[in-house]
Amino acid sequence: KKVVLAYSGGLDTSIILKWLQTEYGCEVVTFTADLGQGEELEPARKKAEQMGAASIHIEDLREEFVRDFVFPMFRANALYEGLYLLGTSIARPLISKRLVEIAAEEGADAVAHGATGKGNDQVRFELAAYALNPDIKVIAPWREWDLTSRTKLIDFAEKHQIQIAKDKRGEAPFSVDANLLHTSSEGKVLEDPAEDAPDYVYQRTVNPEDAPNEPEYVEIGFEKGDAVSINGEAMSPATILTKLNELGGKHGIGRLDLVEGRFVGMKSRGIYETPGGTILLEAHRGIEQITLDRGQAHLKDELMPRYAELIYNGFWFSPEREMLQAAIDHSQQHVTGTVRLKLYKGVARTVGRWSDHSLYSEAHVTFEDDAGAYDQKDAAGFIQLNALRLKLLAARKRRLGS
Ligand code: ARG
Ligand code: SIN
Repeated sequence: KKVVLAYSGGLDTSIILKWLQTEYGCEVVTFTADLGQGEELEPARKKAEQMGAASIHIEDLREEFVRDFVFPMFRANALYEGLYLLGTSIARPLISKRLVEIAAEEGADAVAHGATGKGNDQVRFELAAYALNPDIKVIAPWREWDLTSRTKLIDFAEKHQIQIAKDKRGEAPFSVDANLLHTSSEGKVLEDPAEDAPDYVYQRTVNPEDAPNEPEYVEIGFEKGDAVSINGEAMSPATILTKLNELGGKHGIGRLDLVEGRFVGMKSRGIYETPGGTILLEAHRGIEQITLDRGQAHLKDELMPRYAELIYNGFWFSPEREMLQAAIDHSQQHVTGTVRLKLYKGVARTVGRWSDHSLYSEAHVTFEDDAGAYDQKDAAGFIQLNALRLKLLAARKRRLGS
């Protein structure tokens, strides 16, 4: 028996690796992805080697992550429950896709992950895996093993000579997931939603109060809804997000403290840092303001919560997400141009936008003489017909008193 494990190199997935070998009696193939989490991956290789992994896969997926997952999602301006930019949710389907592909290459019949039985991630990993291979088996050790406390986990690790970083011996202060789009922190010191998050939780953004006193301006170029350049310089998707993360982090942009509804039913509190993503969302809305028709824009905004919920709940690989994606992508045909933003003390604000594809007509909107572009008399009939129902309702109300 052979299983492909999503392996971070951390303590938990190292314990899982060993547990799969000893308790499940299977050969373990490890898969570690660079999604821009900002961690060295060579230590993960070393550890996997030491623990006798049958084979080790380490891949840089940053470009694929941003090009095929983050950017398509940003075309929709997706936010879950109004605020969450879905940084963890959008990474899971890509990890699952590679797990399933590696399983096929390696002749493995199962994949395994380190998500707990309480969260969203298990659902996302597994729905994606089943959508891509209906015969794949999934092993979720957290739902099966009897290592139900930190003490039992540490004992197991010690018994099997798994290195434990000093600060991991006690309780880890909170649970972190990071990639190019965001860092999320949950649990432990954050579990009481009435309590402000301590400063040390934040990892990639400065406190807005400590951000530079001088604003910084940045210009983002878009083509068909995707960012393609910064300050006139063309860059790859992952490079763009990396640069925007630097800018956003420096100016304290993209911090969020949120209590959200998990798919499994409970509420959870998380601290999110999405510096580049927050700038990108603002910029994308900025370019849509002049390039999208109102009908398209409003319909898109109606579909958005549904689209975001599909991603949050793990239905990236589903026909309904693909249907919505097709509509959203179609709307982006003319979303091309440039947005100028001002970054200052935790806020990214659009201060200028221009495009050859613009629908904005100064000739029509001007408060000055419009030289006959628009006949104000047309508005009278427009208002009268729109008012007809309101007048009939008002007349009835006067007649009946309600
Ligand atoms: N609550 C967020 C989400 O569901 C973040 C999850 C973080 N996952 C983790 N394994 N730490 O998308
Ligand atoms: C986990 O349960 O592994 C992390 C939190 C989540 O998936 O929602």
